[in-house]
Amino acid sequence: MNGLVKKFENVFDPSSPEAELLERIDPNKLPRHIAVIMDGNGRWAKQRKLPRAAGHRAGINAVRTVVETAARLSVPVLTLYAFSAENWKRPRNEVSMLMNLLKEYIRKELRTIHQNDIRFLPIGRIDELPAAVQKELRLAEEETRGNKGTKMVVALNYSGRLELVDAFNHLLKSGARYPLSADDIENSLYTVGLPELDLMIRTSGEMRVSNFLLWQIAYAEIYVTEVLWPDFREIHLLEAVLEFQQRERRYGGIRFASFHSVQ
Ligand code: FPP
Repeated sequence: MNGLVKKFENVFDPSSPEAELLERIDPNKLPRHIAVIMDGNGRWAKQRKLPRAAGHRAGINAVRTVVETAARLSVPVLTLYAFSAENWKRPRNEVSMLMNLLKEYIRKELRTIHQNDIRFLPIGRIDELPAAVQKELRLAEEETRGNKGTKMVVALNYSGRLELVDAFNHLLKSGARYPLSADDIENSLYTVGLPELDLMIRTSGEMRVSNFLLWQIAYAEIYVTEVLWPDFREIHLLEAVLEFQQRERRYGGIRFASFHSVQ
């Protein structure tokens, strides 16, 4: 039994499709950083003739499962696109519902996140969020600062273009010298210090990047599933990781790849 299978020993029935998939995952070729565009909450609700809010609420179950599974897989970083800078255009009640859901999620899950040695890191223009949300985010960040396991990065009021604008302005303000290098920019992004993005997952079938991690996506593998976000579970994350391991990554060269390993 490899180390990975052992970590899920009490989670999956040995004869389940999840356990079967897990057996096929190479513990020495894990993605270092997975990002997820959690799409389809509205469609999930519509299919059930429920208000959109019910879809977002159901999406929380998927968040919980994916965070837990990524941590168990020892994926170093999981970045979730929770609220884009463009999402302010949604009806006011939907925006405030999403903000409240985020606060509720942190209040309810912080203890479990902490117990699982997960580090919580918000990215985006956090200072433009409602004060009560900022407070909750700071608390979660502070409380989990010393944790050494998976980093749960939550993108809020996030835009890939604005991240680049913020990076360039930061460089200008700090007196950076001409000519700038790729490292200068890399070191001014919200994601500074995080490993290279290896796998970008998008749910609900849309073939778009939607202004998410535009710089970081350069060599990421993209995986799109038809599954709507509220239905996304362990099996879907395992399928994405397996598919990632089957891709041949060349980075513009002949053959080169770098992965995360677990013992
Ligand atoms: C996209 O579905 C989803 C969102 C805009 C919000 C995602 C937020 C959550 C799942 C909850 C909060 C997150 C955390 C990390 C606690 P959509 O409404 O665009 O769906 P549609 O395209 O089917 O309408």
